[in-house]
Amino acid sequence: MPQILDGKKVAQKLKDELKIEIDNLKSKFNCVPGLAVIQVGNVSASSVYVKAKTKAAKEVGINVFDHHLEETTNQDKLINLINQLNIDKNINGILVQLPLPKTINEEIVLNSIIPEKDADGFHPLNVGKLSISQKNDEKLLIPCTPYGCLLLLRELNINLAGKNAVVIGRSNIVGKPMSQLLLKESCTITTVHSKTVNIESICKNADILVAAIGKPEFVKKNWVKEGAIVIDVGINRIKINEEKSKLVGDVLFSEVENIVSAITPVPGGVGPMTIACLLRNTTIAFKNSNNV
Ligand code: GUN
Repeated sequence: MPQILDGKKVAQKLKDELKIEIDNLKSKFNCVPGLAVIQVGNVSASSVYVKAKTKAAKEVGINVFDHHLEETTNQDKLINLINQLNIDKNINGILVQLPLPKTINEEIVLNSIIPEKDADGFHPLNVGKLSISQKNDEKLLIPCTPYGCLLLLRELNINLAGKNAVVIGRSNIVGKPMSQLLLKESCTITTVHSKTVNIESICKNADILVAAIGKPEFVKKNWVKEGAIVIDVGINRIKINEEKSKLVGDVLFSEVENIVSAITPVPGGVGPMTIACLLRNTTIAFKNSNNV
């Protein structure tokens, strides 16, 4: 039987620790971290994520400032809002939920958040710092989903150094920072993507396989080595019939679970970790601004 990496449980442990830390910070500074959450439009998955992030932030004692803008909001208006939040003393973290409407340039918007308040760790300066930093830098703002994956891997209490890690996907949000984080753990990294030749055989060599492609149940049994550790970042809603749907990952769990040593479930694996790591980043941003 594989070990099921319970993201809900690990995320709860991190949130409990953050709550205690935020209580202590409140006693010391008489204020708590503030997080601004911006959503533009009404993509239903984004609404679900924003709601979950807001709820979790409040639970640990973070002040949340919600900004829900209309789908037709133009880029200048969004950047004006970010400029105001950048100088607002009550705000330590700013999150712009992605994707943005097609009329808005995501890169320009993300770069307009000052790096100190970049709760997602997407700003080029934070991306650069992640790439050159030492191993355990607790001040860094690191993209939440890959950091959550790393925390799940650490739960296994195994030596990651020298492991063959394959990351499927090269997005700025998950794939690239995941590869950076695993490289820092001294894994041997291969990043595969839609143009990779022989993707299946490369994956089959992985001791650690991270799937972040956004394609439901794409990774099948024959892609996975016996005893491998599989981290499934995918959250895909698929139809079961006319009325019902369900969430599945990028990995065909029912096939793969029988051959791996550990695997994350969907839901309840990486998803809750992403949220907990956002709260962690917001707390780090608060501490950095107060020289803690
Ligand atoms: N959309 C999908 N994942 C993320 C994330 O980690 N952060 C933000 N801001 N948007 C996302």
